Amino acid sequence: VSLKPFNTFGLPAVAGRLVRIAAEADVRRVLDHPELGLAPKFVLGGGSNVILTRDMPELVLKVEVMGRRLVETRPDAYIVEVGAGERWHDTVAWTLAQGWPGLENMALIPGTVGAAPVQNIGAYGLELQDRFESLDTVDLTTGRTVTLNALQCKFGYRDSIFKGGLAGKSVITRVRLRLPRPWQPQLGYLDIERKMTETGITAPDARTVFQWICDIRSAKLPDPAVIGNVGSFFKNPVVTPEQCRDIIARDPHVVHYPMDDGSFKLAAGWLIDACGWKGKSIGQAGVFEKQALVLVNRGAAIGSEVQTLARAIQESVYGRFGIRLEMEPVLV
Ligand code: EPU
Repeated sequence: VSLKPFNTFGLPAVAGRLVRIAAEADVRRVLDHPELGLAPKFVLGGGSNVILTRDMPELVLKVEVMGRRLVETRPDAYIVEVGAGERWHDTVAWTLAQGWPGLENMALIPGTVGAAPVQNIGAYGLELQDRFESLDTVDLTTGRTVTLNALQCKFGYRDSIFKGGLAGKSVITRVRLRLPRPWQPQLGYLDIERKMTETGITAPDARTVFQWICDIRSAKLPDPAVIGNVGSFFKNPVVTPEQCRDIIARDPHVVHYPMDDGSFKLAAGWLIDACGWKGKSIGQAGVFEKQALVLVNRGAAIGSEVQTLARAIQESVYGRFGIRLEMEPVLV
């Protein structure tokens, strides 16, 4: 089975077998199967956060659990349960249409709902963990359904237990989101502040914020349906105040944000751009013209080219700034 249509970078890779998971019971059926039960398994969601560098002899479980419903109305929140196979962006739009805002800052993030907690997706001042209630997983060894809360998911910046201790060990089937009442806009982000100045709207409603985010993102991020990509390719590095001062001394324009704990987050896109990578390519893997943090498929890229390009970028950023960039997507 070709996995090319199932990863947004559009990388060629072949899986021995692909099984669609529409419900928890499908996972248990696979585990109970005489041959499939013991085969190494790889769990695939929307494929928007993986770089496939090899064929996969193992069994690929494609999560397609669907459904969206309100499960609880609390005085301070709506709790909405969503199947892991639902598209994230459609879910954001659906909650807005239902009158339960709160996800609008995370509009247009590619991928599925089940993939959202894996890397704790985030954008424009909001992360999944800020809107998270709990999730259901099926343990790939025991076949049991386990519910995890936010603490148990160990969310971090683009990180969770599903990239660590539970990597490859469980299948996320359902996610419950907590949409706060009353709703309050999250506007503390430069791009949003710019929109407020442009339009003169100082108290936007959720739909307006949603539209702004869609406009901001489409202006600088490539649509994976048109140009293969996985969004930001590297995490924004966090450095000590001393390191930050050192870099500012070398390059006063470096984009940096103070963090609550006194450290500084640097814009990886800026660092890569400063090393002259924007628009460059290695083979068919390239650096997006409008945003150096995004690597793109120029047409027929293969995983190893993406890996070579990523390494070359890491080396040049290290050489110039002494900072090691960490990849955001999962390398397979
Ligand atoms: N910049 C450059 N050159 C570039 C790219 C960026 O100079 O080629 C500068 C920009 O001008 C800006 C700064 O770097 O001043 C930061 O860029 P931007 O505001 O576009 O945000 P980001 O740090 O690149 C992060 C997330 C995005 C998220 C946006 C908005 C990470 C790794 N990326 O990007 O998340 O949408 O903020 O909140 O944290 C993703 O994870 O896939 C993703 C797209």
